[in-house]
Amino acid sequence: MLFGTMRINSSNHLEIGGRDVSELIKDHGSPLYVYDETHIEDMIDVFQNNFKSELFLARVAYASKAFLTKAMVELLTKKGMSLDCVSGGEMYTASMAGFNMSRTIIHGNNKSKEELEMCFDLNTGYIVIDNIYELEQVIEIGNRRKQKMKTLVRVNPGIEAHTHEYIITAKLTSKFGESIFDKDILGKIVELYKGNEYISLSGFHCHIGSQVFKTNPFVETIEVMTNFIKEIEDTYNIKTPTLNIGGGFGVYYVDGDQPVVVSNLLKELITKAEEVIKTKGITLKELIIEPGRSIVSNAGTTLYEIGHKKETYGGKDYVFVNGGMTDNIRPALYQAEYSADVATNMNGKKTGDWTVAGKLCESGDLLIRSTSLQDFQSGDILAIYTTGAYNYSMASNYNRILKPAVVFVKNGQSRVVVKRETYKDLIRNDI
Ligand code: LLP
Repeated sequence: MLFGTMRINSSNHLEIGGRDVSELIKDHGSPLYVYDETHIEDMIDVFQNNFKSELFLARVAYASKAFLTKAMVELLTKKGMSLDCVSGGEMYTASMAGFNMSRTIIHGNNKSKEELEMCFDLNTGYIVIDNIYELEQVIEIGNRRKQKMKTLVRVNPGIEAHTHEYIITAKLTSKFGESIFDKDILGKIVELYKGNEYISLSGFHCHIGSQVFKTNPFVETIEVMTNFIKEIEDTYNIKTPTLNIGGGFGVYYVDGDQPVVVSNLLKELITKAEEVIKTKGITLKELIIEPGRSIVSNAGTTLYEIGHKKETYGGKDYVFVNGGMTDNIRPALYQAEYSADVATNMNGKKTGDWTVAGKLCESGDLLIRSTSLQDFQSGDILAIYTTGAYNYSMASNYNRILKPAVVFVKNGQSRVVVKRETYKDLIRNDI
């Protein structure tokens, strides 16, 4: 499937953002992470145009963990997005790229002291409190610095969703947050906030899974979370007007994947939230979502040069590319599946049963276990699609392989937003 601005040009090559893939590789080398900037902007528009309400503030916070660079931060700033960060590194990147840090939401189940102080230094938006010990720490910092900080508390609503299915009151052993059923700990947490001059409890956060294909689990989350909020507000006589339901909206990777249409999903979430406000009498003033994958994944494509092929004695046919699990760990880690084309022979007929393998010294270094491909020769370009989320951000230097460059393409122009690593970079911190 071709995404965003992709098309096949008269040379039978794949073009992204008006740039021929072979030109891109000539200019920037390979492997290469290519991002279709227009596609990212269009996805952001879909979120912003469909996630809005007259009854409350509906905010879209992009989940940095999916893919973050300074250029991405600049694009998010231009679009007026909010940002979810989970580490000092993500906060640092955002602030160095001039992001308005009051629009950030800071996550993590074990934030370091330095990271918590950094939140106060940078005047971040909400800190999402994971547990009571962290709350004690944040209160200590607020009191010491005489500085205000808004927080949400992360809870586990007992809904677990991955891809198709969801289970209610499952997975109460998650490492994230406190269970909504643990009244004892939640009571202690709420009490800790009481009377504190600096640290305020604005509401609650949860996140039920990633790559979720159905709308129901999210609608169910709003139902369960608002019941919970109602109970907390009534029991402790407080107002907790902010609800953040996390991200996790699924995307298409391979044939058979059927994610919901994002615009419909968003409208259903808004409808549900408006309904519960009316029926439950809660003070929901702000609803936040945190999409990562659904904004960037289809906008990203990795271009590789094909090296050799090998027809093994055992019957498996390999095509080798000049990258692998260092630029895309997801097949090895999650058995993730991807689609690919020989990007220099797009109209060729796809045949065979190929395993696309990388160059790493490990047999698990496979990018695609089984795919047909157009005819190719050594030197042709292989495009693997939907690599925009959790590829660059999870890349490593295993085998001392250099991380590829990242380029943004738009309207026939490409610009490097992350330089290709050099061997010097590899030993920069070696002593
Ligand atoms: N908010 C919170 C609190 C999260 O934990 C996550 C993802 C998101 C938002 C964004 O989820 P998304 O919309 O991107 O699905 N490395 C894995 C994905 C891990 C996701 C962890 N949390 C992968 O490559 O599939």
